[in-house]
Amino acid sequence: MKLNDKVVLVTGGTSGIGLAAADLFRREGAKVIVVGTDPKRLKAAEAQLGTGCLAIAANLRCSADIDRVIAGVRERYGRIDVLFANAGLGRAAPLEAVTEVDLDEQFEVNFKGVFFTIQKAVPLMSKGGSVVFTTSFLNTKGTPGLSILSASKAAVRSLTRTLGAELAPRGIRINAVSPGPISTPFASKLGLSEQELKAFAEGVEGQVPLQRFGEADEVSRAALFLASDDSSYMTGAEIVVDGGLSQF
Ligand SMILES: NC(=O)c1ccc[n+]([C@@H]2O[C@H](COP(=O)([O-])OP(=O)(O)OC[C@H]3O[C@@H](n4cnc5c(N)ncnc54)[C@H](OP(=O)(O)O)[C@@H]3O)[C@@H](O)[C@H]2O)c1
Repeated sequence: MKLNDKVVLVTGGTSGIGLAAADLFRREGAKVIVVGTDPKRLKAAEAQLGTGCLAIAANLRCSADIDRVIAGVRERYGRIDVLFANAGLGRAAPLEAVTEVDLDEQFEVNFKGVFFTIQKAVPLMSKGGSVVFTTSFLNTKGTPGLSILSASKAAVRSLTRTLGAELAPRGIRINAVSPGPISTPFASKLGLSEQELKAFAEGVEGQVPLQRFGEADEVSRAALFLASDDSSYMTGAEIVVDGGLSQF
């Protein structure tokens, strides 16, 4: 059991990578708290994760909601041992079609939400604590139509280093897991038509050296490594789980 009795907060823990990670963390002995916005997905996650799991509805664009999440965890457990700040979304649009609303939404969830989640979680963390961010292969690979999503993930990659340096003297480690294309509902929310989505998926598969989409579980295992003491001498780093896409 790699996370025995650890209190683990997983944002975006109601779907895809976050849900797979929450389930794996629970099987490794953690007490898991998941956060999302959609009531149906929250209920389903709570049912899947079983007793001992807490599902909290919160919109991470809103810092008062983050305060409420942290207060809920403080009240129930009094501490956080691991934060997996994983919630995120993307909208595809070429340069001329990007709107202020698109930009604000992606930066507010993917960057601002992550920033205030860690800011508010850290007072409940102590020496030995571990923070894991979810970045993306997009933070190093230029992909047409994904400028804002990619920039928001590059900002989180930067945060892994700056906040990693700030928190290292307190014994709190910060690392990131960087997924490649993974089979989750994420791509279906990019705002592409069915035809565009199909072309996108085929294009991606053709580019990935391992010639397939990854599974959420394959990312969750890397997140577990970073969350647990197995990675005790790692901070500021990023583990890339992308079938070789950004490497070759
Ligand atoms: N799938 C990929 O190909 C891929 C590749 C690279 C990086 N990533 C990153 O991996 C992370 C997880 O994505 P996924 O693939 O697992 O996608 P997903 O299945 O769509 O899951 C996204 C999660 O984030 C939550 N979320 C979104 N907006 C939120 C908000 N405003 N407040 C609170 N929660 C919010 C969602 O909850 P609700 O649905 O309840 O709102 C959901 O639980 C994201 O950061 C994404 O950028 C994914």
